[in-house]
Amino acid sequence: SWKMQDILDEELKVIKSKVGPNDLVICGLSGGVDSTVAATLVHKAIGDRLHCLFVDNGLLRWRERERVMETFERDLHLPVTCVDASEKFLSRLKGVTEPEKKRKIIGEEFINIFDSFGQELKQKYGKEPVYLVQGTLYPDVIESCPPPGSGSTHSHTIKSHHNVGGLPKNMKLKLIEPLKLLFKDEVRELGKIMGVPEGFLKRHPFPGPGLAVRVPGDVTLGNHLDTLRKADEIFIQSIKDAGIYDNIWQAFAVFLPVLTVGVQGDQRTYSHAIALRAVTSHDGMTADWYDFDHKFLAELSTRICNEVVGVNRVLMDITSKPPSTIEWE
Ligand code: XMP
Repeated sequence: SWKMQDILDEELKVIKSKVGPNDLVICGLSGGVDSTVAATLVHKAIGDRLHCLFVDNGLLRWRERERVMETFERDLHLPVTCVDASEKFLSRLKGVTEPEKKRKIIGEEFINIFDSFGQELKQKYGKEPVYLVQGTLYPDVIESCPPPGSGSTHSHTIKSHHNVGGLPKNMKLKLIEPLKLLFKDEVRELGKIMGVPEGFLKRHPFPGPGLAVRVPGDVTLGNHLDTLRKADEIFIQSIKDAGIYDNIWQAFAVFLPVLTVGVQGDQRTYSHAIALRAVTSHDGMTADWYDFDHKFLAELSTRICNEVVGVNRVLMDITSKPPSTIEWE
C-alpha cells in the first residue's frame, strides 16, 4: 500500500543517513519473518556494508538450514554467512535437563558466535562492526517494559526469551531496529513490497532455543532430535496439504522421552511417543488448542508410526494457554 511504501522510504532514508560510508553493520538471521524483513530493509539502504549471520545450532527443524539459506541467497540476495555450530551447542547441552539452564546455555553460545563473527570481520576489514540490526517489533518493545507497578506477569518473567533484552550488558554495538514501530501484519506487508516470498512471510513463529524446548530434558540423548524432526515435518506438511496452515498460529511435534509398549506388524515394540501441538493465538500470550478433524488425525498418527522409526504412539495436546504454555519447556 502507499502507506507502507512511505514507511519503507522513510526508514531507508533514516538508515542511509545514520550509517557512515565505512561502517560495518551486522545482523543475526534466525530464519524468522522479523529478522529477515529487517535485514532486507537494511540491505536495501546500505548494500554490502551489511553482514548477516545465520547460525545452525543443531536444534533446527528438518532441512531448515537449507530452506532458509535458499530464501536468503536466491530470493533476497542477502550477504549471509552460515555457521554450523551444532557440535558446540550440543556438547554444552549434554546432560542438561533444566529448561531455563538450557535457554541460558543457548543464549550464551549465540553471543559467543556473534563475538567471533565480529572478530572475523575485524580481521578482514580492519575495523569492528558499529551497528547491530534487530527485528524488534512494537509489541516486543511494550512487552519488555511493562509499566511500573502494573504487576504484569508477562511471559518474559515465566520463560526467559533471549531474543529480547538478552543482549550482553557491555555490548558496544549500536542498535538499528527498523521495525520498532510496526505490528506483525505490517511487517508482513513491508516484507511483501520488498519481495520477500509470501510463503516465507506466513511462517509460524519458531523459538530461538529451537527444538531444545521440544525435547523435555536432555536433548542430546539417542536420536531424539532426529526422530522429532521427522515427525514434525510430517505434521507440518500434512497441515499445509490440508490447506489449514494459515489458520494456525503455531504447530509442532514434541518428543516425549518416555518408552511405552506397542505392537507393530507382529513385533512387540518398546519405543517413544510423540505429542502434537497446534494452537491459535493473536500474540502468543494466550492461545487455544486447535481442533483438527478426526480423519486428519487418524491418518497423521498412522503415518508417523509407520514412517518414523522409534515412535509407536502419538498424542494430541489439548491444553490451551493458560494453563499450559505453548512450548513444553
Ligand atoms: P510460551 O511457550 O511461553 O511461548 O507460551 C509463547 C511464544 O514464544 C515462543 N517462545 C520463545 N521464543 N525464545 C524465543 O525466541 C524462547 O526461549 C521462547 N520460548 C517460547 C513460543 O514459540 C511462542 O511463540
